[in-house]
Amino acid sequence: MSQQADQFKKLVSHCKEYGFIYPSSEIYDGLSAVYDYGPYGAELKNNIKTYWWKAMVQMHENIVGLDAAIFMHPLTWKASGHVDAFNDPLIDNKDSKKRYRADQLIEGYLDKIEEKILKEVEKARKRFGDSFDEAMFRQTNPRVLDYQKQYDEVLERFTRATAANDMGELKAIIDHLEIADPDTGSRNWTEVRQFNLMFSTQLGNIAGEESKLYLRPETAQGIFVNFLNVQKTTRQKIPFGIAQIGKAFRNEIVARQFIFRMREFEQMEMQFFLRPGEEMKWYLYWKEARMKWHLALGTPPEKLRFKDHDNLAHYANAAVDIQFEFPFGFKELEGIHSRTDFDLGNHQKLSGKKMQYFDPELNESYVPYVVETSIGCDRMFLALMSHALQEDAAPDAQGEEAIRTVLRLHPALAPVKCAILPLLKNKEELTDKARQVFNELKHAFLCQYDEKDAIGRRYRRQDAIGTPYCITIDFDTLKDGTVTIRERDTMQQERVRIHEVESIVRQKTDMAQLFR
Ligand code: GAP
Repeated sequence: MSQQADQFKKLVSHCKEYGFIYPSSEIYDGLSAVYDYGPYGAELKNNIKTYWWKAMVQMHENIVGLDAAIFMHPLTWKASGHVDAFNDPLIDNKDSKKRYRADQLIEGYLDKIEEKILKEVEKARKRFGDSFDEAMFRQTNPRVLDYQKQYDEVLERFTRATAANDMGELKAIIDHLEIADPDTGSRNWTEVRQFNLMFSTQLGNIAGEESKLYLRPETAQGIFVNFLNVQKTTRQKIPFGIAQIGKAFRNEIVARQFIFRMREFEQMEMQFFLRPGEEMKWYLYWKEARMKWHLALGTPPEKLRFKDHDNLAHYANAAVDIQFEFPFGFKELEGIHSRTDFDLGNHQKLSGKKMQYFDPELNESYVPYVVETSIGCDRMFLALMSHALQEDAAPDAQGEEAIRTVLRLHPALAPVKCAILPLLKNKEELTDKARQVFNELKHAFLCQYDEKDAIGRRYRRQDAIGTPYCITIDFDTLKDGTVTIRERDTMQQERVRIHEVESIVRQKTDMAQLFR
């Protein structure tokens, strides 16, 4: 098993063992690509949502929130293009009976060529040291040029086939490149066919097309159909944004990789309404603002990158992904899309209701253009966990050097902010005092009282769930009113007065520091 695969396996089992994420309906052997968040997972997820909400709504005078229903009028999805165009190209392997997305098989092939190029570049960098000129090397090295040519040819053919919705051509590319089933190596494929990703259900007990409802595949449409309601009731002037967090549902063909691709997931989306012609200015603004939001959490910059879309979605005239280096490679974490007036324009046509804004400065009405930022909360969760879960060397209870598992989440997002630990369980004077400290601090933060097991083991448990501070109540506490405060990352312990604890913990865990 590769180091990354091993790291990913550890992450999945850590999430289960420490109450972050469980498979849904596990007693019935689970439900594919559906997960439940346990006690610490629910806290972390709420903190991610709060961080996003505050960054959008609290920090921008011209962005307001919304909480629209999951069910929407079925024509919504006709107008948005999801009924006709929200499809993935599906292919089955006849031998393994496994189902794949044809586009992902081809993208996987392209990723491999890119990896080969990177390998050559890294080899040369080592060889030439400080004098290495990467751009020159890429332009002149025959092997790299060969790979690049191959890459460009496949990409061009793939982009054309996708834009033309040509399923036959996608199959021809797979055959031509001799792409095999990644699990079994078989090349015995079916034809490629379209598969609509929306889940549908019935309204009431009437069967038929007219009562067909969809579980929303994105939260954005709830924002579009409420655009005028919100604009009028909040008296916002363009440019302004509407932010929303909520569940979305997609019947994903390939739903592996834990919570990366789920069938039920949560999105945090913001639609920014603006004057036609100003979309590129705002597209660039939001690109930069969203990258800053990620970096403020202490994520190393080399783990994040922009990737322009090769194939634009049916609604976009510019689109970029913020990719994160997950244990299985760089993948999309967030999308920033310039959606033009596609959605509002189509809702206007289908509903017969005007979706126009009167611009007092221009003295004219128009259908606004939209720049969207859209991030999956679950994917953000996975990105944070996969970076934060680390191992380092630390002495065990006997003072021997041992490996410690520590979840280095940003303290502002940590599920539990502070653990209160009496040194010994069976000394009532210590446990009473610890309870007293806990009962005071719980007004300020989510704290945890823990008296079970030796102190070293309790520290390890808190490290594993990412608690930034452990407060230990010992015999000196009873004498002089001081406690030890242990910091998660450095494991440094300091003696401080009890009344200082709240401000020390607050300073480190306050979300406001992320915005300054
Ligand atoms: N409104 C635009 C939109 O929905 P998208 O790129 O399809 O665009 C936006 O989705 C974000 O939602 C993605 O960047 C990803 O973080 C998240 N997402 C999409 N499908 C997902 C899935 N099946 N499971 C988990 N997250 C998903």
